[in-house]
Amino acid sequence: MHETPELNAGYWSSRYQQKETGWDAGFITAPLETYINQLENKDLSILIPGCGHGHEAEFLHRQGFPQVYLMDFAPEPLERFKSRNPNFPADHLLQQDFFQHTALTFDLILEQTFFCALPRNRRPDYARKMFDLLKPGGKLVGVLFSEEFSTPGPPYGGTPQEYQAYFEPYFTFKVFEPCYNSIPPRAGREWFMVLERRPKPQFIA
Ligand SMILES: C[S@@+](CC[C@H](N)C(=O)[O-])C[C@H]1O[C@@H](n2cnc3c(N)ncnc32)[C@H](O)[C@@H]1O
Repeated sequence: MHETPELNAGYWSSRYQQKETGWDAGFITAPLETYINQLENKDLSILIPGCGHGHEAEFLHRQGFPQVYLMDFAPEPLERFKSRNPNFPADHLLQQDFFQHTALTFDLILEQTFFCALPRNRRPDYARKMFDLLKPGGKLVGVLFSEEFSTPGPPYGGTPQEYQAYFEPYFTFKVFEPCYNSIPPRAGREWFMVLERRPKPQFIA
């Protein structure tokens, strides 16, 4: 039996300190790069929660998007991001618990290996919090694993059907389909989503 670790900031901090960061692709992955490359409005406010080393933020910054925010409750990846990107605005680095953030809202939130890193019982809260952090009409975009894992998590897998039930009350599904351009280790195991925030939650009895 494996004990479920408590997935708090201390847990993730020690993963960074021990360089146990197998989730880190080391670069922006093709699904997110492809999505970002078709964005025309550089003034979108964009959040990357559970950003880790923040490769998407670095890419966006270099492409001239000024309103990019990173959020992680572990300090190590944010410090590393800062030293690699000294011109990135320091007040856009949010060392905070995603579930506690209330100050800002965003046009776009990018997801990559954050959802799968959370305790499974927080998935409904994740969907609700994404709704709260997005402006009306804002979008949650990114990749989710589309299979269960045989190894103890994190990461925790799941099925698109399961995820759909969490998101349905808060979002309309613009794209929700197998990801065609995953990085090779994740090929055939990811779902790509573009979810648009509903004006208000819609619960079906
Ligand atoms: C599996 S890593 C993924 C990092 C990054 N997205 C990537 O793809 O390389 C999950 C990240 O989420 C952060 N995290 C987990 N729970 C969090 C929470 N409640 N609030 C903020 N960050 C959190 C961890 O510190 C960790 O950096």
